[in-house]
Amino acid sequence: MGQVIAMAGKGGTGKTTIAALLVRIIKEKKLGSVLAVDADPNSNLAEALGLEVKESIGSMLDDLSANPQSVPVNMGKDAFIEYRVQTAIVEGDNFDVLTMGRPEGPGCYCYVNNALRNVMGKLIKDYDFVVIDNEAGLEHLSRRTTRQADKLVVVSDATVVGLKAARRIAALTRELGIKTKQEFLIVNRCAALIAKDKIKDLKLDLLGVLSNDPEIEALSLNGNSLFELKNNNITLSALRKLGDRIWHCN
Ligand SMILES: Nc1ncnc2c1ncn2[C@@H]1O[C@H](COP(=O)(O)OP(=O)(O)O)[C@@H](O)[C@H]1O
Ligand SMILES: [Mg+2]
Repeated sequence: MGQVIAMAGKGGTGKTTIAALLVRIIKEKKLGSVLAVDADPNSNLAEALGLEVKESIGSMLDDLSANPQSVPVNMGKDAFIEYRVQTAIVEGDNFDVLTMGRPEGPGCYCYVNNALRNVMGKLIKDYDFVVIDNEAGLEHLSRRTTRQADKLVVVSDATVVGLKAARRIAALTRELGIKTKQEFLIVNRCAALIAKDKIKDLKLDLLGVLSNDPEIEALSLNGNSLFELKNNNITLSALRKLGDRIWHCN
């Protein structure tokens, strides 16, 4: 069974950046196979990993809800969804990426969401690690991907407002019935030391603090993939250590 690492946090805090760097580190350390799941329609994890998306699951669900007859008669809906998910997976160099997107149509998606969750549950077992980059509302985690995340990594900026949002997001996972084994906090783009009392009522284990990194800023300005960061980059080095605590902690 793959270890599911789910990123959460409000927009702009650094979830996609950190998710992509964790994928890079898992690959670099040869820890096992990785599926990166982009579950935030407002961002692009595939691009951050230097890949182009062929098809998102959202557009596939739209097709299915608009044309139920597109399911081959000898196949059944579940098998068809499984097949379409497999074809939507983009293969990188030693990792795979799946882009969830968001269905746009007005149709009822309950059935397909349930089927998709079953398919995702099976898919997760095929990998050693699954890194899911979520949107703040955790829509996909609650309805379409999986309701189990071994490690929840909440990313916050270094502000009181940001930390409050981190607490709300951690509470949201419980309200949505998402089961987590461990919940961590990363404070990103932070130059200060974080006083323990600032985070003690967040009920999240402070994994670490990352500073603002001009090399990441320069990359994102040019839209380049995070694989282009140099090996000795400070954020990459810091995340190698934090990552060890994410995957080795039980
Ligand atoms: N530690 C960092 N130093 C500098 N820039 C960063 C850092 N982390 C993230 N960024 C930048 O901040 C912006 C938002 O990050 P992103 O990962 O897209 O956030 P999210 O996925 O949470 O919306 C991006 O332009 C990204 O390059
Ligand atoms: Mg993002």
